[in-house]
Amino acid sequence: MCAKIISMVNHKGGVGKTTSTLNLGKALSLYGKKVLLIDIDPQANLSQSSGVEDPQVSLYNAMCDNAALPIVNIGTNLDLVPADLELSEAELRLQADVNGYFILKKILKSVHSKYDYVLIDCPPSLGILTLNALIASNSVMVIVQSEYLAVKGLQTIFNLIDRLKENLNAELEILGMLITQLNPTVFRKSIAKTVRDMYPKYVLNAVIHQNITLAEASSTGKDIFTYDATCQGAKDYDTLAKEVLSK
Ligand SMILES: Nc1ncnc2c1ncn2[C@@H]1O[C@H](COP(=O)(O)OP(=O)(O)OP(=O)(O)O)[C@@H](O)[C@H]1O
Ligand SMILES: [Mg+2]
Repeated sequence: MCAKIISMVNHKGGVGKTTSTLNLGKALSLYGKKVLLIDIDPQANLSQSSGVEDPQVSLYNAMCDNAALPIVNIGTNLDLVPADLELSEAELRLQADVNGYFILKKILKSVHSKYDYVLIDCPPSLGILTLNALIASNSVMVIVQSEYLAVKGLQTIFNLIDRLKENLNAELEILGMLITQLNPTVFRKSIAKTVRDMYPKYVLNAVIHQNITLAEASSTGKDIFTYDATCQGAKDYDTLAKEVLSK
């Protein structure tokens, strides 16, 4: 087995990276796939949304102190590598290290064969932590909120991916762009259409609608399938999982 390693990225904040990492990961695990979620954001929202607060050992210790990768089981077929605020210090330490961009790739070699999917929840920046994630990945999912200025800056991400493919990670593929927080207003629908028109090759068929139950679930430390498997959010992430499985 060789894992599909997917970075969930956008340098914009609050677009749904963490929500999508947790719920796509859970949906894939429900289809019997072995899934590892990695929290590489110092905000540690993925860890909190998975019910893991203040872990004793975090990704920081594995990246900066040579500690073994901390893996916490959070469900059947579903594991998590948690983060904490200390990870913000990692940025400076990694920048001072000649191999600082390749640390996550090196660490993940030990887990490649144990999982079908590894999903990495990136912080809202294109700094050294996100670059570690992209260099360690073979796929990238760009999360795009159907909101004002959504398309601004998308080209920066695609340019970065192109440069990484040329120089540092030839196997990196764009798995797709995921439109999130879609609602029936004409304005939001028109933004989603603009993104589809601009990137017809990449936009996934699955979309995530705005659904308050998704926000409620993460605030209680639960994925959407555990919190309310019948809501629109659960249906949307199930549809997304089927599309990812078909690729
Ligand atoms: N489809 C949705 N419908 C309603 N609320 C949502 C949806 N997706 C995410 N949210 C809420 O929007 C907020 C931002 O989502 P999330 O934390 O997943 O974004 P993010 O891109 O990871 O943010 P950051 O860049 O800060 O890491 C959260 O409060 C989350 O619960
Ligand atoms: Mg997040």
